[in-house]
Formats: sequence, C-alpha cells, structure tokens
Amino acid sequence: MKTKPLSHDPGSKRYAYRVNKEENRKELKHVKIDEASLSTKDDKAHKDIIELPKKRFYRQRAHSNPFSDHQLEYPASPAEMDWAKLYPHLQDEATGEMTKKVTIADIGCGFGGLLVDLSPAFPENLILGMEIRVQVTNYVEDRIIALRAQNKDNLKYRNINVLRGNAMKFLPNFFEKSQLEKMFFCFPDPHFKQRKHKARIITNTLLSEYAYVLKEGGVIYTITDVEDLHLWMVKHLEEHPLFERLSEEWENNDTCVQIMRNATEEGKKVERKKGDKFVACFKRLPNPTII
Ligand SMILES: C[S@@+](CC[C@H](N)C(=O)[O-])C[C@H]1O[C@@H](n2cnc3c(N)ncnc32)[C@H](O)[C@@H]1O
Repeated sequence: MKTKPLSHDPGSKRYAYRVNKEENRKELKHVKIDEASLSTKDDKAHKDIIELPKKRFYRQRAHSNPFSDHQLEYPASPAEMDWAKLYPHLQDEATGEMTKKVTIADIGCGFGGLLVDLSPAFPENLILGMEIRVQVTNYVEDRIIALRAQNKDNLKYRNINVLRGNAMKFLPNFFEKSQLEKMFFCFPDPHFKQRKHKARIITNTLLSEYAYVLKEGGVIYTITDVEDLHLWMVKHLEEHPLFERLSEEWENNDTCVQIMRNATEEGKKVERKKGDKFVACFKRLPNPTII
C-alpha cells in the first residue's frame, strides 16, 4: 500500500510529533496494552503513550471522495478478517478464537467521540468505528492506545477500535449477515449539491447492504444538523421495505440516542453554535416470507 509522506517539512514540530506517534502506533496498535507491555518503557516513552493525541497534528482535507480508489485493504470475506488485531484482549489465548464479535458500528466515526462514550455504556459489546480519512483514523487509533494505557488496570476501552475503510464499498467484506445490532450515522457529510447526492452515505442501494449486515430488530441511528439531509435520510429509510421508523418516545427513552446527541465532535460543534440536531432511528424489520 502507498503511504503519503508524513509532512513536507522534516524539521517541523508536526513532522516530529507524527513520527513519534507513528512509532508508538506501529508498536502498540495490535497488541494487548497492559502492565507487561508498558513496564519496559522509560518515563518519556510512557508519557508519550498515555498522552492523548493532539488533534491539530492530524489535520487533513475535510472531505474524502468515497468513489475514488483509496487503495484500501479489506478482507475477501468476514471469515478472513483478523479481529484479534483490533481487540487483542478479546482473543481466547488457548484457542486463538475471538470471544466476541463486533455488534455496534459507527460509520464515518470521525475523531471517535461516539466510540469513547459508547465504550463504558456497552462494556459487553465490541464496537467498531469505520473512517475513510487516513489522518483521522490515525488520530482515533492513537486516542484508543492512550485510553487503554491510562486505564490498563481497570480494563476500560478494550471493546472499541477503528478501521480505515470505505463503508460505501466494503461493509459485507467485514460483517456477516445479521451480525450487527446497531449502526450509527452521525453528522454524515451532507454533499449539498444535487449532482453530489449519489455520494451520500444513505441511498437505497446502500440501505440494502446495511439491512444485510443488521440483525432483525437492529437499529440504524441517524443524526445531522442539515435539515435537507435529515429529510433525505428519512425518505430513503421510510421507502425501504426492511426499515421502520421508531417513535419520538422510543428515541427519548433510548440510551444511545442520548449519547449520540452529545458525544461526537461534530455534535459538540453544532451545540456550540446552538444549531439544530435532527434525529431519526429505524428498526430493521424481518425479511418477508417468500411464498
Ligand atoms: C462530518 S464527519 C462526522 C464525524 C463523526 N461522525 C462526528 O459526528 O463527529 C463525517 C465523517 O465521515 C467520514 N466518511 C465519509 N464517507 C465515508 C465512507 N464512505 N466510509 C467511511 N467514512 C466516511 C469522513 O471522513 C468524516 O470523518
């Protein structure tokens, strides 16, 4: 896989920061972070690992074209996915098998705020963020490494991770039929212009893929500050035969809706600007019986 240079100026602070974080990431992103793995570190290395990443060093273009060839790596089928690399603490040492499967997905997870807040609320679930932008994915990986290191004694944050991927192309390569219980679409890119609507993350075709990986009774969560996009998502979900909208009363009683309203970085931005937040949640219906 081609990798872009870290920064154009090797003498810059940003370059040095990124090189250091990349070294940590390479060493720690696929291993158990516990007393043993941290005990060999000197004070400086230990501090570098437990310090939360600084967003300003991970800036990149706001949008990534979901139709371009990102040279992404993805498994040929879900059976070939090595989940132990993302959740090493959840691998049975004797058999090598994973003790759990991913059941919650945050599509276009951005800087990972939702993952971090869902983690303690759903400690028994494995939660995956999928993100297309390289630097943003790196940030989330570094954030999770730091959180796991800070919490090495209390086992927190072992159930979340992020994967660089294009959710519009490869979801069924990662997840089996009916594997997921919840899918989140928080503040997706609005693609305002009509000719760009095909790049929206909710379309009729994509909904059929989401229905494939979601189990019956599973839920699609959507939230956005763009009313036009909200209406678009509601329209497409309402028109799809495998989804049914959940009531406002259901939304008000659901823990995930409460978390989703406030956890994500985009959601916080909207809050600061006192913008609107439009929520819509849909239940995955049973497949119709074929007579
Ligand atoms: C506006 S941001 C919202 C991020 C986050 N959900 C939040 O609420 O803070 C949309 C994110 O979706 C990512 N994204 C867009 N298309 C994607 C795709 N096809 N697959 C995975 N991620 C995608 C973008 O890179 C971006 O980080």
